[in-house]
Amino acid sequence: MKIHISNKDFIKNVEDVSIFLKAEITFDIPKNKSYLFYDKDGLSYIKDASFPRERLHVDFLKGKLAWRIKRSQHEGKLKKALGKPKRTLSIFDATAGLLSDSMIFLSLGHKVVALEQSKIIYSLVNDALDRAGNKISYLKNLTFINEDSIAFYKKNYENFDVIYLDPMYPIIKKNTKKTGNIEHIKKILEYEELKKEDSEIIEEFLKCKFKKIILKRPLKSKKTYSNINYQVKGKTTKFDIYL
Ligand SMILES: C[S@@+](CC[C@H](N)C(=O)[O-])C[C@H]1O[C@@H](n2cnc3c(N)ncnc32)[C@H](O)[C@@H]1O
Repeated sequence: MKIHISNKDFIKNVEDVSIFLKAEITFDIPKNKSYLFYDKDGLSYIKDASFPRERLHVDFLKGKLAWRIKRSQHEGKLKKALGKPKRTLSIFDATAGLLSDSMIFLSLGHKVVALEQSKIIYSLVNDALDRAGNKISYLKNLTFINEDSIAFYKKNYENFDVIYLDPMYPIIKKNTKKTGNIEHIKKILEYEELKKEDSEIIEEFLKCKFKKIILKRPLKSKKTYSNINYQVKGKTTKFDIYL
């Protein structure tokens, strides 16, 4: 993996990430490969050098995600899945990804420990967190860690109020257009050889000690693990709740 920068002024901004990812910094546009790109907007991932406009970029201050976070009170299904807590919850997000769901939990006033296994995804999100800096006050309630969440949870067991699981799910429709963030995430996980069956993380956490697990699934997914307590259904996804 290379990090492409167009301007030498950006070198200092990408030095840490280049060391963390063991990624070479280059001024030449990498050809025929996926690569990271840094410009005035921050760090992005380009999954195919032939389509450099299709990039994965995380931004908590502007765009779709920022809009979703600002309207967190409208996240009816996710709020229903959390219940009606009268106090701050401690939430363990075992599949942090681009941190969208965790940002909703945080903006609703909860505390979050979020784990992401991929170093590349972690770097993209960390860059967005750095840019958001002190502009989002509730980020002080976030701990974001680059590690396998199953191993971490077993080592550092804490009685979290909620374990949140949103594993990658198999594409149900064969003809689904291969665009969007999920396709980028998949490509990154393939590159880092981190692709595992989604059932593994679900089964592992169900075996652990927990107060409540919220499992996000596609609405049409059939497999339900034993002892499900209730479901909150949305238009395309559902939340399976285990107590
Ligand atoms: C569908 S995405 C999660 C999206 C996330 N809920 C969001 O709002 O952006 C699944 C993510 O979980 C991560 N993941 C899967 N298994 C993991 C594990 N055992 N430990 C840490 N991260 C894991 C994957 O790397 C991927 O980034």
